[in-house]
Amino acid sequence: MKKKTEFLYLSEPDMMQAGVLDVKKCVDVSEEVFSLLAKGDYLMGGSNHNSHGMGIIFPKETPFPNMPVAGPDRRFFAMPAYLGGRFDVCGNKWYGSNAENKSKGLPRSVLTLNLNDKDTGEPLCFASANLLSSMRTGAVPGVGVRYLARKDSEVCTVIGCGPINMACYKSIVSQLPGLKKVICYDIFEENAQKFLSWSKEKLGIDGAVTTDAEEAFRSGDVITVAASRLKPLHFKDEWIKKGATVLLSGPAKADDAYWINSKIIYDHIQLHETYVAEAVESPDKQAYYDGVIGGPIYRLIDEGKVKSLKESTSLGQIVNGEEKGRENDEEKITFVACGMAVFDVAWGYDLYKTALEKGIGTKLVLWDEPYEDA
Ligand SMILES: NC(=O)c1ccc[n+]([C@@H]2O[C@H](COP(=O)([O-])OP(=O)(O)OC[C@H]3O[C@@H](n4cnc5c(N)ncnc54)[C@H](O)[C@@H]3O)[C@@H](O)[C@H]2O)c1
Repeated sequence: MKKKTEFLYLSEPDMMQAGVLDVKKCVDVSEEVFSLLAKGDYLMGGSNHNSHGMGIIFPKETPFPNMPVAGPDRRFFAMPAYLGGRFDVCGNKWYGSNAENKSKGLPRSVLTLNLNDKDTGEPLCFASANLLSSMRTGAVPGVGVRYLARKDSEVCTVIGCGPINMACYKSIVSQLPGLKKVICYDIFEENAQKFLSWSKEKLGIDGAVTTDAEEAFRSGDVITVAASRLKPLHFKDEWIKKGATVLLSGPAKADDAYWINSKIIYDHIQLHETYVAEAVESPDKQAYYDGVIGGPIYRLIDEGKVKSLKESTSLGQIVNGEEKGRENDEEKITFVACGMAVFDVAWGYDLYKTALEKGIGTKLVLWDEPYEDA
């Protein structure tokens, strides 16, 4: 007997109706994912199951008139995963990114998510994933704050005032009831101004805009970095307060002293080991390091100045009580989060379940029965 296959299509408004913007829930779900990661109940892409994903990186030049060429933040990426526990589902986030999108009235990257039956491969859901992705990206440093930030943190500094940092900041605010002030820094002052007005209006937290990166870094008890690569970002150890928590969701460089003096907690060590392995296999290891958030740290590990990934800690080990998070009020902690498809699958799965329960979305038929030549 042949089987009909249907799946649920969830547009961006459907995802909103299903609760994609529920910050606290997304942080809780992300915490569950960290726990599963540290237990090993997941698979991601690549031969060692820990790849961030596979991208199409465009060449600098091409003889083919239609072939895309390299440009700022221009790439395509597929991020597949299986996630176990109560989720027990496969999925893939697929996106295209291009800094030029903004001039066309589009976000920098356009994302969608598929969820699939882990046994048959049938699609369960095809969903708009821009909000999903930014929420789960934001929720990850939210979990970081839960375990790593000083509970008396009062000032949050935002470096790079785009949509990803809005999501990071929302989840940080949800974890720090004592937060009093936000300091906004962006290479475009108007983006920082917009961020500040939004924080005041939507979250009731006022603060200031600065055009001076040093002042911004010096002010923060919690510093969230999610700037794009339009201009390189450098900070110094002496700019960071004792006891501060730096949450890296986007690229940043610092002087060696910073990486050496701060306690570095990774989202998932195995992901970073895979980045390093991929760099070693690539034609230019240093250029590969330049393209990933952990690159400046991997370089110092190679030079023996920072402890190896093997000896380091993943956030999931802290969540599971196997390792310690913040141990005193003085230490500077860096949390490095590079994004993993398991978070998209987890949050997407919960929203899919909610949509089914509440009748949200559009059912689409893949086939009434799979076609076969007689
Ligand atoms: N870790 C993850 O899981 C994850 C997921 C998605 C995106 N990201 C990363 O987050 C970053 C931000 O993404 P987005 O979608 O908000 O991008 P965006 O381009 O929409 O916004 C980024 C902002 O950063 C600003 N900026 C660029 N260079 C800067 C600098 N040197 N100093 C200060 N501000 C600077 C830009 O002006 C812009 O306002 C990107 O690097 C992206 O790759 C990380």
